[in-house]
Amino acid sequence: MGSESLHAPRERLSRRTLTIHHAIVSIMEELEAVDWYRQRADDCEDEELREILLHNMREEIEHAAMALEWLRRYDADVDEQFRTYLFTDGKPIMAVEEGAEHEEAPEDVGLDADATKPPSPAPSGRRKTIGSLKGKKG
Ligand SMILES: [Fe+2]
Repeated sequence: MGSESLHAPRERLSRRTLTIHHAIVSIMEELEAVDWYRQRADDCEDEELREILLHNMREEIEHAAMALEWLRRYDADVDEQFRTYLFTDGKPIMAVEEGAEHEEAPEDVGLDADATKPPSPAPSGRRKTIGSLKGKKG
């Protein structure tokens, strides 16, 4: 029995899509566990058990971070977004988004010819987004 969260017939999905699916489902489970542990810790009246629950919550955050890093390394689109938005402390996130939209180089816009192969990483500082396609003049 595989994942029950596929949204297309399994035989029509590429190995790459299934691999990414496994990572995404795992990340979802780790983050759900983080949420559960935090809620249980809030609701726990025993101080020692609360500390254990919070410790376990932090372990789940570590697991989520490891899987997110794997996904970033595996998928160039994830890598591009993480490089744009993560660790941008001190700058409003929407300002980061506005800046990224204006950095777009027109030659980067387009779909990969073979979606079953990993996309090659975009050159740094260049982005391709659906949002930027909307405002593009032909
Ligand atoms: Fe975990």
